[in-house]
Amino acid sequence: MSQLVYNLEDQVFVITGGSRGIGLEITKLLLEQKAKVVICGRKQEGLDLATEKLQAGDNLLAVQSHVAKFEEVAKLFDQTLERFGQLDGLINNVGMNIISGVVDADPGLWNKIIDSNLNGTFLCSRKAGQIMRAQQKGKIVNISSIAARRSAPAMGIYGIAKAGIEMLTKVMAQELAPFNIQVNAVAPCMVRTTFSEAFWSNKDLHDAIIKTIPMGRIAEPIDIAHPVLFLCSEGSNFISGQTLLVDGGASAI
Ligand SMILES: NC(=O)c1ccc[n+]([C@@H]2O[C@H](COP(=O)([O-])OP(=O)(O)OC[C@H]3O[C@@H](n4cnc5c(N)ncnc54)[C@H](OP(=O)(O)O)[C@@H]3O)[C@@H](O)[C@H]2O)c1
Repeated sequence: MSQLVYNLEDQVFVITGGSRGIGLEITKLLLEQKAKVVICGRKQEGLDLATEKLQAGDNLLAVQSHVAKFEEVAKLFDQTLERFGQLDGLINNVGMNIISGVVDADPGLWNKIIDSNLNGTFLCSRKAGQIMRAQQKGKIVNISSIAARRSAPAMGIYGIAKAGIEMLTKVMAQELAPFNIQVNAVAPCMVRTTFSEAFWSNKDLHDAIIKTIPMGRIAEPIDIAHPVLFLCSEGSNFISGQTLLVDGGASAI
């Protein structure tokens, strides 16, 4: 499947949280398409490991940056423009969850989950939107989750943050449409990454989860990366404000 052509040669993409999981897979696919990619993560160690794996030379830049920290987001985009001189796409891929209910949640925990998911997406999109508006061209793709649509006991605050990201997608799509910028989201079901390992590595939980997915399996990172690349490509030029559910048919039943 990875020989699909998206026509992204020499285009410049920032992928938040590109050091592992879905973000790393998107990065790999973009590099295969001869795009230039900037990844960020909080830990330098993870970025170094990804850089070593990807072997992409000057086409890859890794910047240590926490997406919910204003100055670090500014650094991420400054370094992108310094190195590559333009920004064609932003993929807001960072997400994190800490299992908790809402009623008894500590406000500090609430803030932490909202910060990494929703506020981080806002801060990066705001910066990218300003750059793209001046260029009169750009693509923003946000990674949501099926947790934005259906409440799940272990994912309450996370689901609320992701629902906010889906509304942010619509609002920014409208605001940026006159500048030839499309803003969309992809909402996966469970994907085989460290993020959800506690669920899919438990056989009973895994078997219960795949019963809810008509395709009979959880997603692999590549299943999410291809729809993201489509939304980064000119094939999606007339699509904006949409969330594409990539869930093996789960939301259809
Ligand atoms: N896996 C699933 O089942 C699943 C399902 C639906 C939706 N999603 C969504 O898909 C996206 C990617 O998830 P994943 O499964 O690939 O997660 P993952 O394997 O945990 O990877 C997360 C990436 O984000 C980085 N990161 C985390 N917090 C950050 C922050 N505040 N600032 C900068 N970087 C940060 C991590 O690096 P550092 O640790 O070094 O910061 C890492 O590169 C998330 O938005 C997630 O909510 C995942």
